[in-house]
Amino acid sequence: AHISFDASALSKFVHDNELGEIQPLVTAADKELRDGTGAGNDFRGFLDLPVDYDKDEFSRIKAAAKKIQGNSEVFVAIGIGGSYLGAQAAIDFLNPNFYNQQKGRNVPEVYFAGNSISGNYLYDLVQLIGDRDFSINVISKSGTTTEPSIAFRVLKEKLIKKYGAAGAKERIFATTDRAKGALKTEADAEGYEEFVVPDDLGGRFSVLSAVGLLPIAVAGGDIDQLMQGAADARTEYSNPDVTKNDAYKYAALRNILYRKGYTTELLENYEPNLRLFGEWWKQLMGESEGKDQKGIYPSSANFTTDLHSLGQYIQEGLRNLMETVVKIDEAPHDVTIPSDDKNLDGLGYLADKKMSYVNDKAYHGVVMAHTDGGVPVMTVNVPKQDAYSLGYTIYFFEAAVAISGYLNGINPFNQPGVEAYKKNMFALLGRQGYEELTKELTARLNK
Ligand code: PA5
Repeated sequence: AHISFDASALSKFVHDNELGEIQPLVTAADKELRDGTGAGNDFRGFLDLPVDYDKDEFSRIKAAAKKIQGNSEVFVAIGIGGSYLGAQAAIDFLNPNFYNQQKGRNVPEVYFAGNSISGNYLYDLVQLIGDRDFSINVISKSGTTTEPSIAFRVLKEKLIKKYGAAGAKERIFATTDRAKGALKTEADAEGYEEFVVPDDLGGRFSVLSAVGLLPIAVAGGDIDQLMQGAADARTEYSNPDVTKNDAYKYAALRNILYRKGYTTELLENYEPNLRLFGEWWKQLMGESEGKDQKGIYPSSANFTTDLHSLGQYIQEGLRNLMETVVKIDEAPHDVTIPSDDKNLDGLGYLADKKMSYVNDKAYHGVVMAHTDGGVPVMTVNVPKQDAYSLGYTIYFFEAAVAISGYLNGINPFNQPGVEAYKKNMFALLGRQGYEELTKELTARLNK
């Protein structure tokens, strides 16, 4: 295995026999997943995606990334939910912390838009781009999502003003459904270069498709290695036996813990450029599992930062928390703490030590403290902060959540709950087709 899963800190919370006892349920969940007999079986494309993907499109993605790198100082990825979180998490994971400010890189600055309805944000982004050369990748599986549609209109107008209609088309890349939706219609009509979100991938499982790959490649990520990591993880996590499959073991343990009342899970890191990985993970877990009035609530925390804020709650608050740490064994760079004869700050005992050494001791100290405080902690050890490891880790969590969903008796692949607010918003905006609801909600508002 390339990454390792460490559940050794759970002995106080889960007895040795419990994993064996849940194995029949895991075996059944695995069968549902592999045979396609489970709910949502049309959306299992993530399982084989790392080996079974469109190789021609993959080459086009690389070529488009090169083109964008060559003619753009700024690149904007427009999308929301599953259509941006993976790319953003991956780009942060793979690049230096301040990549957009770093001089001398041969890649454009990368920004994200269309993931809120904030005019203030979009205004600031437009100002930031200024007169600089830029390109955009508009990403929407349905092709009709309000947030990205608005951002696309605004940035398209800016492109057309700067480059003219023909020039703008060269700088718009559309990632959407192969056949339907407004974005597909527009891309066909205008002749934008198009990339496809496969039918059998839900948004939150789409980071290893064009949805994530183009932005990641533009930012300089090695997408071959990303896919290779995921492909190797696919082989590694194909055994239904929880003693041989760490992704399933993780799914089983969190299900065991959930049934004991540990209903909130925090995904944690000790490296700031993993912060957005937590955001990606929250969507993957929350949208997959939170339905039928049940499911683990996914949260995230960044350490040691949040030990100075959430730390108190985690140590002594309501005992419904469990933690999963994504721990990088070897970050790309390190700093040695200088020696200082005066030692006025009292840090002499750390002189000449690497910060990674201190960070590691912090991790071990936290695991023991939280365990003593009644919080079960699991750890996913990731050897390196590189594309291969990232692909591997992504697949680990995707496989885990699919099994976890079936273990909990829900469809891990749908997301009916995300529609409720949209209906209300459209009605309040007076969109055609919502007339009855407009009346009802306006009356409720004005009561
Ligand atoms: O996972 C999901 O289904 C959502 O988060 C979608 O990804 C999000 O709503 C964006 O949808 P679309 O890609 O259709 O614009």
